[in-house]
Amino acid sequence: MRTNPLFDLFGKVAVVTAGGHGLGREYCIAMAEFGADVVCNDINLTLAEETLDHLRPFGHRAIAIQGDVSKPEDVERLVREGLRRFGRIDVFFCNAGTSNRFVPPHELIYEDWSKVVAINLRGTFLCMKAVLPVMLKQKKGSIINTASVAGLPGGFAPDSSVYGATKAAIIGLTRHAAVAYAREGIRINAIAPGIHDTKPVGLGISQEKQEELKPLIQARIPMGRIGEPREIKALAVYLASDASSYVTGQVFVEDGGLLA
Ligand SMILES: NC(=O)c1ccc[n+]([C@@H]2O[C@H](COP(=O)([O-])OP(=O)(O)OC[C@H]3O[C@@H](n4cnc5c(N)ncnc54)[C@H](O)[C@@H]3O)[C@@H](O)[C@H]2O)c1
Repeated sequence: MRTNPLFDLFGKVAVVTAGGHGLGREYCIAMAEFGADVVCNDINLTLAEETLDHLRPFGHRAIAIQGDVSKPEDVERLVREGLRRFGRIDVFFCNAGTSNRFVPPHELIYEDWSKVVAINLRGTFLCMKAVLPVMLKQKKGSIINTASVAGLPGGFAPDSSVYGATKAAIIGLTRHAAVAYAREGIRINAIAPGIHDTKPVGLGISQEKQEELKPLIQARIPMGRIGEPREIKALAVYLASDASSYVTGQVFVEDGGLLA
């Protein structure tokens, strides 16, 4: 079934990094639901393959590719393989991200700092660097980076300093790159999610601790609840499709009113 042509992704190819879980899986589902073929990357191949099971009902092509976004060779292979299988890349979600263990800055250890910078910031840069030449050739493309409310004023969390720093840097990278490629048919935007119930696997805090923190977090959110991962899908479709053809260099906050 074709959707409204404004949001139509038929014939397009979308790559999603860290598509095996959480928001990344929702991006993959959203792309397939609106007609795109999907390349689902994850460092964990089993999770990426599980995502493919969710895409089957939509009947489009989809492949899973294992890879670590902080490694140039893995990212280059992801783009190369996506192109080899599907011939083009129209949409690229730089979604992979992780957080430091929640501690104040003076307790942060160098290894945590390096890991978060490598996956969040270097990973985003490597993905953009690998896919931009493809989109330049096509004279068209949409890159969607992943920031966070933690990278924006008002979103400060005292124990997430390196996470917040990388997300603020991703916003800077998004804006600068958007201007650089605005005349080349390439749009670059960022989504800044608020708190979503993805049961994050990379946060370094236990499931019990997450449950304990839940009421405290909910109390801070004007809508009074944590977001469902699927609630981010419409924004993803908007930014991936021609519905947002005159939109670039922007950060879209989706947070139940948290920053308001
Ligand atoms: N969930 C939230 O509340 C929230 C809020 C703001 C921003 N974000 C951002 O959204 C993105 C997704 O978050 P999530 O909560 O859905 O994540 P998640 O913890 O649910 O899933 C993370 C996925 O990333 C994969 N992964 C980890 N390291 C990787 C690497 N180096 N290369 C490729 N894949 C890797 C994991 O295997 C897993 O499938 C992240 O950038 C995160 O910072 C999430």
